[in-house]
Amino acid sequence: MTASTTEIQASAVASSVQCALAERASSLGLWCWHADATGRVFAEPEAPAAIRGAGALGSWLRSAGLRPHIESAAKAALAGDAPPPPVELFPGCWLITLAERKGSRRTNATVAMALTPLAAEQDDFTDICRGAGVEPEAVARDLSTWLAGRMPDAAQAAMVLGWSLNDLSRAEGDAATLDQFSEKLVQSYEETNLLFRLARFMNGSNDPAQVMGMICNQLAQALPFQWVGIRFGKEHGGVPELADQFILVNEPPCTKQELDGELTKMLGGIAHDDWTRLLTPADSSLARLVKSEVVAEPIAHGGKTIGVLAAGNKTGPDPDASSVEMQFLDAAADFLGVFHENLARFTEQRDLFVGTLRALTASIDAKDPYTCGHSERVAMLASTMAEAMGLERAEIEQFRIAGMVHDVGKIGVPEAVLCKGGKLSDEEFAHIRRHPEIGHGILKGIPLMAPQLPGVLHHHERWDGRGYPHNLAGEAIPVIARVLALADTFDAMSSNRSYRHALPRERVLAELERCGGTQFDPKLAPIFVKLDFSRFDQMLVGHQAQAAIVAAA
Ligand SMILES: [Fe+2]
Repeated sequence: MTASTTEIQASAVASSVQCALAERASSLGLWCWHADATGRVFAEPEAPAAIRGAGALGSWLRSAGLRPHIESAAKAALAGDAPPPPVELFPGCWLITLAERKGSRRTNATVAMALTPLAAEQDDFTDICRGAGVEPEAVARDLSTWLAGRMPDAAQAAMVLGWSLNDLSRAEGDAATLDQFSEKLVQSYEETNLLFRLARFMNGSNDPAQVMGMICNQLAQALPFQWVGIRFGKEHGGVPELADQFILVNEPPCTKQELDGELTKMLGGIAHDDWTRLLTPADSSLARLVKSEVVAEPIAHGGKTIGVLAAGNKTGPDPDASSVEMQFLDAAADFLGVFHENLARFTEQRDLFVGTLRALTASIDAKDPYTCGHSERVAMLASTMAEAMGLERAEIEQFRIAGMVHDVGKIGVPEAVLCKGGKLSDEEFAHIRRHPEIGHGILKGIPLMAPQLPGVLHHHERWDGRGYPHNLAGEAIPVIARVLALADTFDAMSSNRSYRHALPRERVLAELERCGGTQFDPKLAPIFVKLDFSRFDQMLVGHQAQAAIVAAA
């Protein structure tokens, strides 16, 4: 509200354009009334008390006799397409009307009055004075004081106010567009930021289930839902580690099993295109179960729905999921689908690659009937040990693969040396000692094998620093290599060799324990000797049978 108008009804409020327009009119020496879309005046010039030294003029402006003329002018402005020309109410008193437009609709009108000293000489002026109960001379005096030498010109004022209205409306439109744009920008930033964080998790861990848990956590933190869950189908043809997995963050208002049951049911036999993303208690048993709307986004792989990302029981004052929240979850589900596809491709490639390496190491082991199956057994022992050490699934897998490939460098050792029955000469032994470095050289160009490289290079190091190839000691030896050293030695002592029979289990275990602190890590050796070796024994029997067949052939 400007200095020249005051509200007469609290239910109507002048728009920012109307307020600015009244300020400009006031600077031109004009008085303003504001009307709503129906032409009803809701704000008129200031009360007489508020106009210092012009109380009589204030009463005149707010008189009941003037109001019908003002409202009629406002209605004319609201009805027409173009702004009407100034209306001469009586000589020296002009009304200029402007209407604000939103699209094709006129939303309000402002009526500005240009009064000149000529008006005070008219009968209409005196009539209004009479109606307002003020002396015409007093009003004329106030007017003269108010104008302070200004002489408002209706035609000029109409032109200036018309331009002002256009400018102000355009500026308001620009501000609204800017607001919308910045809102979209903030939304898009938040979405990108969330997806960026999710991507970082996806790249930062090799354990798919752990990644899913972290993603759920991030979504639960970023979005106002009581719970967030991801359910993968039983046979989804993708990453085996994720099949039939259910990851839930925070507590739904039902049991985890009940929620899991509903999500599993939802996954059964629903085509990707038929998916309903916003579930309500009226049409979904899941929404009825949690007594709230649930946003359920499908996770797709190869055009098939393999899982669902769901969030429910929205917190905060508005219980309905907003379009922004749905967009977030939609983007996150798409992201999960892409992650899953990449992971499936990666797993496929890794399995193919490990299969090749396995065939390679098996062929090396098979050169010597005594080492047949050695790498596979070391792989099994290393992964069992990793499990006993409490390592995560991804690391356990790394230990297994490291065991599989630890002796791949033997491919560079002459067969005559590798399979020699008797004692090795110094030169032959030097050949053998090169196999960790040869193996490291073979694998180092393969990014997939990066986690295994330290194990391959250092599996013959000793805790006391007397091993090879780098004479590393203690904890300077990578832990994967310390585990491989235990598994490698255990297998060597437990299987027949050309120069001796397999040693009894008790002796093997006693030897490993005895060598803790010299050959082996003193903390790991006691853990290793307590492992369950039944699977190892089964494998050994199988491999010995294979070796016998090869030897007989
Ligand atoms: Fe070796």
